[in-house]
Amino acid sequence: MPVLAFSSPKGGVGKTTLTANVAVALHQLGWGVLVIDFDVQNSLRLHFGMALDDERGYVAFADEPEEWPNLAMPTNSGVFFLPYGQVTEEQRLRFERHLTDEPDYLMRGLGSILERPDWVVLADLPPGPVPALRGLDRIGATHVAVLLADATSLSLLPLIERGHFYGARRPLVVLNQVDPRRQLSRSVTDFVSGRIPDHLIGEIYRDEAVAEAIGWQRSVFEQAPASVGARDIKHLAEVLSSRLKQEARNSAPLPPAIEAHR
Ligand SMILES: Nc1ncnc2c1ncn2[C@@H]1O[C@H](COP(=O)(O)OP(=O)(O)O)[C@@H](O)[C@H]1O
Ligand SMILES: [Mg+2]
Repeated sequence: MPVLAFSSPKGGVGKTTLTANVAVALHQLGWGVLVIDFDVQNSLRLHFGMALDDERGYVAFADEPEEWPNLAMPTNSGVFFLPYGQVTEEQRLRFERHLTDEPDYLMRGLGSILERPDWVVLADLPPGPVPALRGLDRIGATHVAVLLADATSLSLLPLIERGHFYGARRPLVVLNQVDPRRQLSRSVTDFVSGRIPDHLIGEIYRDEAVAEAIGWQRSVFEQAPASVGARDIKHLAEVLSSRLKQEARNSAPLPPAIEAHR
C-alpha cells in the first residue's frame, strides 16, 4: 500500500516543492502517481500548472470520499493531481472532523488506487501535528519528514525521536536546502547523518533552479534537468522507489502452503 506523506513540524521547509518534484521523478521511474494536497494553502497546484482562479478540489466533497478518484486531474508531467480546492471554513472543519473521527475515511477515498501495486500516492501536508497526519498514519503511510539544515530544525530532531508529531513510527528524514558552502549547514548535515543514519534518506542542495521552476509552474526536471537540485531530487525518488518495492515484496502474502512451513 504505497503512500508517502511529506510533512514537517516546521513550515516553509520545502514539503510542497519536494512532494511535487518527487512525484514527477517517481512517474519517470515508471510508477503511476497520484499527488494529493492536504494543505488549505492550496499551493501544490502551483507546481502543476493549475489556473489560480480554478476553485475545484476534493475537500468540497468531504462527505463523499468515494468521489475523489473522479476528481483527479491529469497534468502535463503525467502525474495525476487532487487539489484541495477553495473551501469555506465550515467545509475545512468538516473535512478535518472526518479525518479525526473515521478510521477508514481515507481508505474509502483512496482504496481503489491503493490496491494497485504499481501506483503510489504522495500527500503534501501542512506543518505540525495536523489531522491529516493521523489519517494517513492509519492507512499505513510512510512518513517523510522534511527539515532544513539549520539550527531550528536540529532542535526538533529529539522531539521526533521521542515520538512527538509522528508517534512510535519514526519518519524517514530529508534535509532540504543544504548548502555545503556554509559551515552551519555542513555541521547540521553531518550531525543528522551520524545520529539517524538509517532514517536520513536524502540531502537536497539549495538550488535556485528548484525555486524558479515553480514560477514556470513546472517541475525542476522540465525547468533545469541538469541542475544539482534535479540530481538530488531524482536520487531521493530512487531511494523511495526501491524502499516501496521492498515493502511491497515484504507485504505480499505467500501462498498458504508455503507460508505454513516458514
Ligand atoms: N532545494 C531548494 N532550493 C531552493 N529553494 C527551495 C528548495 N526547496 C524549496 N525551496 C523554496 O523554499 C520555499 C518554501 O518551499 P515550500 O515547498 O513552499 O515549503 P513548505 O511546503 O514546507 O511550506 C519556496 O519558495 C521554494 O521555492
Ligand atoms: Mg506547503
